[in-house]
This record gives sequence, structure tokens and C-alpha cells, in this order.
Amino acid sequence: MTRRNGMPQLIVALDVPDREKALGIARELRGVLDWCKVGMELFTLGGPLLVERLKEQGFHVFLDLKFYDIPHTVARAVAAAASIGVDLLTLHCQGGERMCRAALEARDAVAAASSAPRLFGVTVLTSFGPGEMPGITAAPGIFAHELASAAAAWGLDGVVCSGREVRAIKASAPALRCLCPGIRPDGAEAGDQRRTMTPAEAVRAGADYLVVGRPILQADAPARAAAAILEEMQAAPVPSSPAGMR
Ligand code: C5P
Repeated sequence: MTRRNGMPQLIVALDVPDREKALGIARELRGVLDWCKVGMELFTLGGPLLVERLKEQGFHVFLDLKFYDIPHTVARAVAAAASIGVDLLTLHCQGGERMCRAALEARDAVAAASSAPRLFGVTVLTSFGPGEMPGITAAPGIFAHELASAAAAWGLDGVVCSGREVRAIKASAPALRCLCPGIRPDGAEAGDQRRTMTPAEAVRAGADYLVVGRPILQADAPARAAAAILEEMQAAPVPSSPAGMR
């Protein structure tokens, strides 16, 4: 499928407990989408070699390990991720300014020598509903917006948020990219996700990347499920700038 201008990217989350299965699904999805997400389960099993194999298949790799540690440790982890060719990675905004700036410095230091991953800050997990975040009284959407504003000020490339928060985030930080999990086509089970949106709703809100795991992985034909999501995305109007700037 040819991508319409300005249409967000669809990323498949390869959340499976088996390296070969992950590579098999990726192979099936070649030519349908360009991005794979390697999360903590798959990276624990497959490590850098798996990232390499996905890159050999031609995919961009999003390493979703959600770094959260002291600045020194996170900076070293970012440099390591850059050295294995990761294209985009996540760290927690709640790690704070020093941690996020150390990560950016580490990324920029390797940028000349190797490809530099984009750094995205996790705001509030899409599995959190109201009142579920320990020690946080603000509503998830409000807190996500606060963290996204901080991420923009620190210079992160983007944030991970629910599609429901994209409009407010882009209104105050138009250049910040929004990567949205919690995507559920009509009728798909939400599972543990709470702040969900359909693919079309997320596109209309101005999301830049949509991450989808179970609705593709658990389908009888993953490639067909991914193509259907892409068709829904294609049919949805992308907002005009600045809200839709990407
Ligand atoms: O299966 P499902 O579509 O819910 O998968 C969503 C993916 O996005 C998972 O791999 C999950 O780890 C990831 N994710 C998320 N919420 C965040 C950040 C990442 O669901 N805030």
C-alpha cells in the first residue's frame, strides 16, 4: 500500500515469546508496514541479534525498553542502543530533566559515527485509567500533557501517549511527535488497555505513529489485519498543521 502524504506510521509490536515466531510474523508483514517494535519480552529473548535480523529484513526498529534509571546508566544504555542500529527508543519522562538530557547528549555524541535513534519520552502508560497511578492525583490525560510539555522543553523528539491526549499536546508543542499505543479497531478487545482509540480516531487526532500489538498478532491472518488497519488510517483525514505537523 502506498502511504498517503502525512499519514502516520503503523508499528507492529512483536510481543511474542519466541524469536523465530517474531521473525516469521515480521516476514509476513514485509511490504505491508515499515516498523517493528521490540519490547522487553522479545529483547530479553532475542537481544541485539534479533534487532539485526529485523534490520536485515528492511524494518525500522523501535526498541521499547522504557529506560528509567540514573542519568549515567541511561546515557550508556542509549549509546548501546544506537550502536546496534535502533531507530527509535523510549525512556520515561518521569526520569526527569537530567536523565532525559543525559540521554540526548549520549545520542548526539554517537550521531556522527552511527545512526542516531530518535528519543521518545513515555508520559502515562495507556493501561492507566483515572485514579490508578500511585501517588498521582491528576487525571492521566492532564499528567500526560504536563510530562509532554517537559519533554518538549528538554528537547526529546517525541512522546508516547494515548491518542486521546494528542490534540492537547500538539496544541502546546506542535513539533513534538506523538506515538500512540492503546489502538483498538472497532470491536477489538481492549484487554489491559484503558485509554484506547480506534486507528481512525488516532489519525484524526494527529498521531504520528500508531503501535498495535494484539489486534494484529492474535488475528488469523496478521498481514490482513495490519492491512485493514492501514486502510482505516488511509481513509481518515490527517489534521492540518500545526496540530498535524510532523
Ligand atoms: O497489544 P497492544 O496493542 O495493547 O500492544 C501495545 C504495545 O504498546 C505493547 O507492546 C506495550 O508494551 C506498548 N506500550 C503501551 N503503552 C505505553 C507504551 C508502550 O501499551 N504507554
